[in-house]
Amino acid sequence: MKRVYIRTFGCQMNVYDTGKMKAQLGLDGWQATDRMEDADLVVINTCSIRDKPEQKLHSFLGEARAVKRQRQAADPDDRLLLAVAGCVAQQEGEKLRRRYKDLDLVFGPDAVPRIRQLVARAEHEPVVDTEFLDSDDYVFADVLDPDAERSPTAFVTIQKGCDNKCTFCIVPSTRGTELSRPSDEILAEVRGLVARGVREITLIGQNVNSYGLKVPGERTFAQLLYAVAEVPGVERIRYTTSHPRDMGPDVVQAYRDLPQLTSHLHLPVQSGSDRVLRRMKRFYTRDRYLRLVEALLDARPDLALTTDFIVGFPGESDEDFEATMDLLATVRFHGSFSFKFSARPGTAALRLIDRGDEVPADVAQQRLQRLQDRQRQLSREHHEAMVGSIHPVLVEGWSRHDPGVICGRTSTFKTVNFEGDETLVGKIVPVEVTRAFTHSLRGRLVPTPVDA
Ligand code: SAH
Ligand code: SF4
Ligand code: F3S
Repeated sequence: MKRVYIRTFGCQMNVYDTGKMKAQLGLDGWQATDRMEDADLVVINTCSIRDKPEQKLHSFLGEARAVKRQRQAADPDDRLLLAVAGCVAQQEGEKLRRRYKDLDLVFGPDAVPRIRQLVARAEHEPVVDTEFLDSDDYVFADVLDPDAERSPTAFVTIQKGCDNKCTFCIVPSTRGTELSRPSDEILAEVRGLVARGVREITLIGQNVNSYGLKVPGERTFAQLLYAVAEVPGVERIRYTTSHPRDMGPDVVQAYRDLPQLTSHLHLPVQSGSDRVLRRMKRFYTRDRYLRLVEALLDARPDLALTTDFIVGFPGESDEDFEATMDLLATVRFHGSFSFKFSARPGTAALRLIDRGDEVPADVAQQRLQRLQDRQRQLSREHHEAMVGSIHPVLVEGWSRHDPGVICGRTSTFKTVNFEGDETLVGKIVPVEVTRAFTHSLRGRLVPTPVDA
């Protein structure tokens, strides 16, 4: 039996692509293993959004190369295939092969649907495939991730690529132009997942709000939400990521109409300063973002908002940063991911650095620290306010830390740990919150009349 080990870095798109790789390789008899030492094929699905994730590839490749050489030394016929996939593969292509002679296969995200052919070829010769396909030729892989059968939640990709040009971002160059997956195909995948016991669907894309707009006759993103909600068995719908500029009143309305749409929204703002937002080419203002938040909360009062921030973007002054801190306090985000600006190859922000606008590393670090401290405080306050209240929780499985404890998520995407057993996995059960922590909640299963 042939075994494949896949290590995944980066965003949900990569997690999803990894699932598709496993599913397709499964058709050729490959079985997934979680031990690199047992594998005949090692795939590293990489991310290049910031410098740090990219570094992870290099340390991992060092490790994988050592395993490969060790095995070949012991048995010259033992040919462990080594592959790099994902955004760094797309960005670096041939360069990676030149740097790591042991690599057998380098392929970008567009090549994921062709992984079976690529691996078969790589068994005979080194292969590099970083071509972007024309939209007419692109096919979204349609076999289902075997792991989806074991989880009540699943991702479904609805678009690939991104047409925006946020000046800090490498994604448009690693994932190519935006392409919407036909909605009938999306709905078929959703039905397939529900038939396997999935209860919660997360629609993913880099800019889901622009879904379908380039294709005459295609559903809009809001229409897609309504269509997914109609699929029997879909109990919860989430989606990510939204660009604030493209989020229209029809999506806001969906928060009034669709009980399946969960009360959590990740709406990356990046900065609270209009000057910085302009230089990032985000095409919204702080005021417009705040008005959107207001409209959303009006439609769904318990909506928990989370966001992304970049601190230390070139030219960010103390005043700009204070505007970000002020926005954080105004919206009172339930959570946020915050990053120090990282210069990426080929992005427009590099020109701002060349002009001498770089924010010193220690200043960026202090700003990040302040922002994260404040966020932790806010998250905790939100969690403390929940103590004593009861929430429907979709049970996902055993808690990673405590034996006998299961965990799940509220509609607002809060992790709740509570005592229970495996028979509850995949069910939505009422849980009373008993304790609040910064990143999770502790709860108690509330007996329903049937249990009592
Ligand atoms: N499509 C999403 C973002 C995807 S990237 C959107 O438009 O919101 C995820 C997050 O990584 C971004 O929201 C941003 O906060 C961060 N990020 C992207 N490029 C970065 C860079 N060069 N330096 C630091 N953080 C970055
Ligand atoms: Fe990057 Fe902007 Fe596209 Fe998001 S919307 S992927 S930040 S270019
Ligand atoms: Fe990283 Fe590529 Fe996703 S750069 S964040 S894996 S789209």
